[in-house]
Amino acid sequence: MATNVSTMIDADRIAQRVRELGAEITRDYAGRNLVLVCVLKGSFVFTSDLARNIDLPMRVEFLGVRSYGEGTKSSGVVQITHDLTKPVEGDDVLIVEDIVDTGLTIAHLLDLLRTRKPASVKVCALLHKPARTRIQVPIDYLGFTIEDKFVVGYGLDWAERYRNLPFIGLVESGS
Ligand code: IMP
Repeated sequence: MATNVSTMIDADRIAQRVRELGAEITRDYAGRNLVLVCVLKGSFVFTSDLARNIDLPMRVEFLGVRSYGEGTKSSGVVQITHDLTKPVEGDDVLIVEDIVDTGLTIAHLLDLLRTRKPASVKVCALLHKPARTRIQVPIDYLGFTIEDKFVVGYGLDWAERYRNLPFIGLVESGS
């Protein structure tokens, strides 16, 4: 079935920005115990590209989360559906998130991961929608700031569809 999605950020722009973020992270984490924590499912594409642009010894862990909300609204109460497979005590954790919308999910994950006693916890997000902020969270590495539109592609879904699009796009009404 053909999809009707218009491009907001094309694949080349994403690749360029991910290269820049990878270079920054490589500089900042040299000599440290970097662990990327990929927040499933939405961050799987971003994490795989980002990891290949970081030129350091590092680990990748996966955290599966399900957000409890009313309809499309995030409540910030997240259920862990898949936990880290190894402790991160003493490690430098970098949470890799697809999008920070209200900020509630990241706030919860920061609290959760801090209980695991890492040496540091920081956040790398591909996208940020500041218009919808409900709680301010630090975003240490950010790909793009976007307006308040629902986006899909590059891992992001709409009812589990569109994750495989190689670009960030907007679903046209009627699709
Ligand atoms: P927050 O708790 O409101 O910051 O929500 C973050 C999560 O909501 C993200 O990890 C996404 O899974 C989902 N989300 C928020 N905005 C969008 C969007 O525009 N497209 C797809 N998923 C979104």
